Amino acid sequence: MKLEGQGKLTAGCLFCGMGGFASGLAKAGFKIAWASDSDRYACKTFQHRFPGVRVIQEDIHALTKQSAELESVDILVAGFPCQSFSLAGNRLGFEDPRGKTFFEIPRLIKEFSMELRPKLLLLENVPNLLYGGKLEWFDKVRRELRRAGYWFRSDSCWIVNVKEATELPQDRERLFMVAALRSHFTYNPFALPKEDNAQNNRKSIDKIIDRSQQGTNEAYLSPENRYYKMIERAISEGVSDQNVFQLRRSYVREKRDGLCPTLTANMGEGGHNVPFIKDSWGIRKLSVNEVAQLQGFNSKENIFPEIPEKEQYKLLGNAVCVNLAQRVGEACQEILNGGH
Ligand SMILES: C[S@@+](CC[C@H](N)C(=O)[O-])C[C@H]1O[C@@H](n2cnc3c(N)ncnc32)[C@H](O)[C@@H]1O
Repeated sequence: MKLEGQGKLTAGCLFCGMGGFASGLAKAGFKIAWASDSDRYACKTFQHRFPGVRVIQEDIHALTKQSAELESVDILVAGFPCQSFSLAGNRLGFEDPRGKTFFEIPRLIKEFSMELRPKLLLLENVPNLLYGGKLEWFDKVRRELRRAGYWFRSDSCWIVNVKEATELPQDRERLFMVAALRSHFTYNPFALPKEDNAQNNRKSIDKIIDRSQQGTNEAYLSPENRYYKMIERAISEGVSDQNVFQLRRSYVREKRDGLCPTLTANMGEGGHNVPFIKDSWGIRKLSVNEVAQLQGFNSKENIFPEIPEKEQYKLLGNAVCVNLAQRVGEACQEILNGGH
């Protein structure tokens, strides 16, 4: 199967990153028509992975239907920046310029005439967008999407954890929001994907983390590193030295139950949030290849073009988990094919 998908239904991707969302949608049967992001490493990687797709490197504020000659699509997906809504962030919500980028989504949609607007919108962010900001954040999202012509309310949302809805051993909770175009649908037909036993088939983390091979020199923490002693102590005092350990701001957290903690964009920068393991050669961070698999990317695929390794970690931490994107994408396929 071609990575960009071969289905009849088309998808456009805003804030496309390296294409976690796009990969899942293509697996769910959508054909990716175009994608856009402001980051040059994101665009370069997306283009490398989806050579047949038009990738537009542009700040969302400058992206218009006319300037980029955006064609109409069946579904528009957007995993817009989440830092300002996250419990781990500044929680400034729409006061933060990164949070404000959300408003560019309805702005862009409204540049299309009603019959050419995407029939479905699929947005992704952190669950706290639904609960935080004294509920005003979600109210704003709802109002904006309704004004753009969509059915949308809180039960069109899905809060889901990778460890429960997929076979991947990562603890990563996300919010998906699905809005349905009023001129096409008589109501919002999105229903939560059916429960399944994905977690009973959970892939063993030892099948992903390879402790039998020595990592690269740079992957190992030098004993001179200021965090070395703290991490070493946490590993020796932990429940099992085969677990994954993550450096938080001022302490080290041991992730139990054969899981990896939420992978984040800043793990590429070193410092906090970097996941570490112990092997026969020392204490090392998870490799790009291991992180890619934990996010659902096919490790046999040549994922990255020539870009710095720290950018690879960043793109992977930012990505929508491919397997989750596929599940929610399949639910959207059903809706679009179902004639609601
Ligand atoms: C959470 S990531 C998206 C990940 C992507 N959906 C995936 O599945 O791989 C958010 C993306 O928004 C992009 N971004 C942030 N601010 C932007 C802006 N002003 N205009 C366009 N893209 C922006 C970032 O470069 C980043 O790739």
